[in-house]
Amino acid sequence: MNKENEILKSLEEDQKKITTLQELNELKVKYLGKKGLITELNAEIKNVAVEEKKAFGQMVNALKEKFLNFYESKKESLEEEILNKKLEQEAIDISLPSKKVKRGSLHPMTRITEEFEDLFVSMGYTVYEGPEIESDENCFQKLNLPKGHPARDAQDTFYLKDEYENYLLRTQTSTAQVRAMEDHTEKGPLRIVCPGKVYRRDEDATHSHQFMQIEGLVIDENISMADLKGTLELFCKKILGEKTKVRFRPSFFPFTEPSVEVDVSCFKCQGKGCALCKGTGWIEVLGAGMVHPHVLEMSGYDSKKYQGFAFGTGIDRFAMFKYGIPDIRTIYGNDIRFIEQFDRKDSE
Ligand code: DAH
Repeated sequence: MNKENEILKSLEEDQKKITTLQELNELKVKYLGKKGLITELNAEIKNVAVEEKKAFGQMVNALKEKFLNFYESKKESLEEEILNKKLEQEAIDISLPSKKVKRGSLHPMTRITEEFEDLFVSMGYTVYEGPEIESDENCFQKLNLPKGHPARDAQDTFYLKDEYENYLLRTQTSTAQVRAMEDHTEKGPLRIVCPGKVYRRDEDATHSHQFMQIEGLVIDENISMADLKGTLELFCKKILGEKTKVRFRPSFFPFTEPSVEVDVSCFKCQGKGCALCKGTGWIEVLGAGMVHPHVLEMSGYDSKKYQGFAFGTGIDRFAMFKYGIPDIRTIYGNDIRFIEQFDRKDSE
């Protein structure tokens, strides 16, 4: 029994000294290793009288359990200590200023196109997109421009070759009118806008061989010039500012009758006359008109029951005016320094 007390005493002393995991493991060897104090005591069982064997075994087990309890709880607290130290050392100083993340910005054409779309969607229009490679039929014939029509000259373009010679890069988004009317099998009311790229054989500071237009088409019963005027006035004011004045001039387009061209008061000189408006105070921005009954009929509409108005404008031109871009070619140059400026412009 003295052995038991000895072990208990030495264990009590040893426990106080442990400060690291390594010391703790060494202690385990000292007590429970092959030649450990408790292991050796356990081996004594063979020398114990039979009637005392049970009590002896229980005593050894109690010692073992006492040691293991201490071992487990000490191990846990030492590990926690280590972890806490590590966390302390690795702490992130959140008061340091962060590195600036370089954000991209939307291209001015994307911005203004989305602005157009949002405006028309808010008036109940759907955005309708058509292909850039179009048939001669959709681009011209079904818009009242049969082969050989002189008005085709104003829209010289890129034709495809050989078996595709009846296809071309569309010169105007007005093709969407034909497609939308033909897709609409019920031949009832329609309200669409179609933004997209168009192509012409032009190139200088204000004309690019590729540019963007947005087309609008409204078909319903009892549609008149008043609807067209109201819509386009609202459109110009929303995009270019409430102070913008809008003027309608008679014009000619084969697919509308009557046709108009729409001018807005020059936003640079407020109508006084400057280089931008060539001294006139006005800038032409839109072509429009009442859809020609023959155009309605060619796409299956009953022109006695339905009327429509249509309009088309160059998105690039609006972007140039709105953002003060002097050369259309910079819009397509993909120079990041150019694109980045528009983040600021919109929030001004
Ligand atoms: N498509 C014409 C152009 O590219 C613009 C235009 C004029 C569109 C009158 C229309 C319209 O829808 O009614 O010059």
